[in-house]
Amino acid sequence: MAISETERRAMSRALELALRGPRSRNPQVGAVLLSPEGETLAEGWHHGAGTPHAEVDALSQLAPGAARGATAVVTLEPCNHTGRTGPCAEALIEAGVARVVYALDDPGDVESGGADRLRAAGVSVESGLQADDARALLSSWLDVRALGRPRVTVKWAQSLDGRAAAADGTSRWITGPEARADVHVRRAAADAIVVGTGTLLADDPALTARDGDALHAHQPVPVVIGSAAIPNGAAVTRHPHEPLHYATRDLGAVLDDLLDRGVHRVFVEGGPTLASAFLAADLGDEVLVYLAPTLIGGPRLAIGDLGVDSIDAQRRLSIDAVERLGEDLLIIARPGARPEGGH
Ligand SMILES: NC(=O)c1ccc[n+]([C@@H]2O[C@H](COP(=O)([O-])OP(=O)(O)OC[C@H]3O[C@@H](n4cnc5c(N)ncnc54)[C@H](OP(=O)(O)O)[C@@H]3O)[C@@H](O)[C@H]2O)c1
Repeated sequence: MAISETERRAMSRALELALRGPRSRNPQVGAVLLSPEGETLAEGWHHGAGTPHAEVDALSQLAPGAARGATAVVTLEPCNHTGRTGPCAEALIEAGVARVVYALDDPGDVESGGADRLRAAGVSVESGLQADDARALLSSWLDVRALGRPRVTVKWAQSLDGRAAAADGTSRWITGPEARADVHVRRAAADAIVVGTGTLLADDPALTARDGDALHAHQPVPVVIGSAAIPNGAAVTRHPHEPLHYATRDLGAVLDDLLDRGVHRVFVEGGPTLASAFLAADLGDEVLVYLAPTLIGGPRLAIGDLGVDSIDAQRRLSIDAVERLGEDLLIIARPGARPEGGH
């Protein structure tokens, strides 16, 4: 059965409703229930982990039997598993919903199959309506879903000879204003900015995303990892968000806790010790290297030990982009296939 204009409008509305839900381990999903005549009966969205899914949230607003013969327009395939909230496909069938139109197939092994379950119960099902919009809305959650943790970008600035600081620890500035402005734009697209205690103590960074002197509308949460305390009066204590401090070296545990807090995209800004630890643990999904035409020499390498004892074990990356930023280059790379025998 062709998708109607009313269903298209309802999907646009459902995509808006989805955004009312918080970013969490669960996807942001919206739903609109339409009567057989095309009137809106109820709207719903997912309010966060442990709460009813969007379809059930919408159904819960109706009297028993009021959804009989209705069409449910949902941004994600209704789930088919019993988690904390019970399968949505079953709830729709029990409510007597006659038709379901959804945007995006559920990528989960456990949750998917809702469409098949609905069809088996005689419900008319259409998928793919505004799927690109739904995919864009859920892009960070889809990454989290695939990785089982937040997506991590590891960024550093280095001299042409691979140094991240001078011998005395000063590193401001290796790159020029265009490169630094680019970093701020990318910070604003992240949910958290992470530094080690070494960088906190050496540089006293503000960890805000700025456009000149103005703050970007979205500020990632500042995160400090390492046992040293955050000094009173450190610039990061004046950040719009209270800094999170993890006195641990267990990066997996940090990422897990950040995900619980709704962090999907992590921007690691160093320094060399912490950046190396993320890469050594295979926790870097993207590497951004700002390369400046300058020579520093000396001991302060941009990246330290990665556990590569022999060239067979080198970490091959593939380059996604090379951009010129003023005098500097930005190289964007991601882990590629490991050489045979690599680990
Ligand atoms: N060029 C650049 O892009 C750039 C960026 C940032 C900083 N820098 C420069 O880098 C220098 C600071 O470098 P850094 O390497 O000392 O600082 P860092 O990487 O920021 O901090 C190192 C600290 O991180 C903590 N840490 C947390 N998890 C860890 C883990 N899994 N493994 C190891 N350590 C972990 C440790 O603290 P605990 O011992 O307390 O556990 C460690 O001492 C400064 O000179 C700064 O200017 C340059």
